[in-house]
Amino acid sequence: MARKIIIDTDPGQDDAVAILLALASPEIEVLGVVAVAGNVPLALTEVNARKVVELSGRRDVPVFAGCDRPLARALVTAEHVHGKTGLDGIELPAPDLPLQAQHGVDFIIGTLRREAAGTVTLVAIGPLTNIAEAFRRAPDIVARVERIVLMGGAYFEVGNITPAAEFNIFVDPEAAAAVFGAGVPLTVMPLDVTHKALTDRSWIEAMRALPGRCGPAVAGWTDFFERFDTAKYGSLGAPLHDPCTIAWLLQPELFSGREINVEIETEGRWTTGMTVADWWRVSGRASNALFLKDVDRDGLFALLLERIARLP
Ligand code: RIB
Ligand code: CA
Repeated sequence: MARKIIIDTDPGQDDAVAILLALASPEIEVLGVVAVAGNVPLALTEVNARKVVELSGRRDVPVFAGCDRPLARALVTAEHVHGKTGLDGIELPAPDLPLQAQHGVDFIIGTLRREAAGTVTLVAIGPLTNIAEAFRRAPDIVARVERIVLMGGAYFEVGNITPAAEFNIFVDPEAAAAVFGAGVPLTVMPLDVTHKALTDRSWIEAMRALPGRCGPAVAGWTDFFERFDTAKYGSLGAPLHDPCTIAWLLQPELFSGREINVEIETEGRWTTGMTVADWWRVSGRASNALFLKDVDRDGLFALLLERIARLP
């Protein structure tokens, strides 16, 4: 029985690889893709989500637009990382795949009410606005969520958009606080682990050499995406943040971490958006998240190559 998921996303080159990985994997049934404002405004993330789903050939998967701004703050975007389209690196045609008329938050609510309780996993790879808004509008769905697997936060690795905060959490800290406090089982994929998921030239060239269009697309996106991180960190490759969430669903043994308490700072003068991860369990606060820290990098990239090779 395939695991049913909804992907909430702000494509974003790394989001695009995560979406392709999910659509290439028979262990996963993607019920829908919901765009959120984040890396670039919603008007672009929804188009990018449709472009990626169309590229995969999976025109059966519906794409929705969700919230166009954070719950309580102005939107902060990341064109400096992802380019002006949010999906720079290759040219893709305007999508023919239609955008669903239903609001993405209503799709999340309706799906969780329709599907059997405990059978739908939410995979959040952008700011948590849509999920927090769905929980606010329909508190009855919270107990029905199987688990939320999210890319966000940082502890030992510290922040990437401020010295203290990772981008997805920083963009909408109030949404993140609502999600981390909702009591839903959480798997958190922070920069501590995604900064170990670095591409390398041989892997990118193997992607480029794949038959079909998806492998070369991933190569083009990572060529573009890595320029920022290699310049900033001096690293040899780009961190593939978002695909780590899908890879955890497919092969959790590739990752390791701890069940700990994680709180979200929403009022810090310098630390707003920080994930205060009690790694050493000194707070006495109840655990609310599986906070991952390490990954079998070679195993992850072997999985990515094998699965993307299955796509057209
Ligand atoms: O900080 C990395 C996260 O922010 C990733 O999800 C990336 O796509 C951006 O949204
Ligand atoms: Ca993202």
